[in-house]
Amino acid sequence: MTRLAILTSGGDAPGMNAAIRAATLIGLSKGLEVVGVERGYRGLIDGHFRPLVADNVTAILREGGTILGTSRCPAMHERSARDRARAQLAAAGVESLLVIGGNGSLTGALAISDPTECAEQLLRVLGIPASIDNDVGLTSLAIGVDTAMNTIVEACDKIADTATSHGRTFLIEVMGRDSGYLAMTSAIASGADMVLFPEADRSEDDLVESIVRAVMAVRKRAGRPKRVIAIKAEGVIVSTDRLKQKVDERIRQASGEPAGDVETRVTVLGHVVRGGRPSAFDRLLGSRLANVAVRALVAGETRKMVAWMPPVEVDPAAGQRSSADPYCWLIDLQTVLTETNRLLSRESQLARWRATVFDELGDVFLL
Ligand code: F6P
Repeated sequence: MTRLAILTSGGDAPGMNAAIRAATLIGLSKGLEVVGVERGYRGLIDGHFRPLVADNVTAILREGGTILGTSRCPAMHERSARDRARAQLAAAGVESLLVIGGNGSLTGALAISDPTECAEQLLRVLGIPASIDNDVGLTSLAIGVDTAMNTIVEACDKIADTATSHGRTFLIEVMGRDSGYLAMTSAIASGADMVLFPEADRSEDDLVESIVRAVMAVRKRAGRPKRVIAIKAEGVIVSTDRLKQKVDERIRQASGEPAGDVETRVTVLGHVVRGGRPSAFDRLLGSRLANVAVRALVAGETRKMVAWMPPVEVDPAAGQRSSADPYCWLIDLQTVLTETNRLLSRESQLARWRATVFDELGDVFLL
């Protein structure tokens, strides 16, 4: 093995640069030439590579985003695009590819290394999970989650100041396309009054009623702030604006207050959640996962993902603890993706546990 390519793909996540840096440095220390692929799979299909040496990567550890650029590339679902991507790798003399990204990116990693499509080509592919949504199966954390959580908590702390001063209700929408993980964890860490997440599968009426109940309960509390902070995951089926409108209508009906007195406000944090300097933990996580991944590639591993402390049992036939880092596991990529789908379709043990815990916590938040 002589040349290693590093690719970041899908939504960027703080800590990707730490992974690029560590993978480059470990690769160089193992005598490999290292190249970066620009703009994810899009750049791979077009053959956009650039050399990575220690000088390019030493200072990137503390930068958000990804220095390589990224893209979402539906073309990777097509055989012809994958053939072009493999041809570009072969022409560049790349035998090992490290893919840093989420569900879609890891699906691309599995497809591009499919032995039935590239029997003649020596190509080893490993993935490491990076997605602020924390929606990759069999890893307790993906790169970017910790920073995103800190960003949300900082924003919620600020909003809580003004919400408390005015006695207002705030609906704060956080990223999480299909997963309520960020909403759930940041609700606990910021001391929010309630959390709305897609895993609960609640109807619009039920969501509206639960917010109205919270507002009414808080108003009755003597000597305590009359504000409600509700964190809502982006993936909840009802839009945040519609929820606000419905909540305001119901409170007006329930309390007889005039329109101007109903004080619900909406803050959509959106892409703010994905940016910023990576936390110390994300720098460490990116570095450790990349360290294990490059060592595994050198050892001849392929079609695996490096996971951080899997939260559920891993079938020993599908994955093993890494000998390079006891917190990391090397798990068969297909098994990871199957578990990811079960997580997103809420069939997995972990998804059910998350939903149950937060259902049970609903009342505790408002005590
Ligand atoms: O990377 C995951 C994510 O941030 C989701 O939470 C969000 O729904 C999506 O990406 C937004 O994607 P884009 O930046 O392509 O609009």
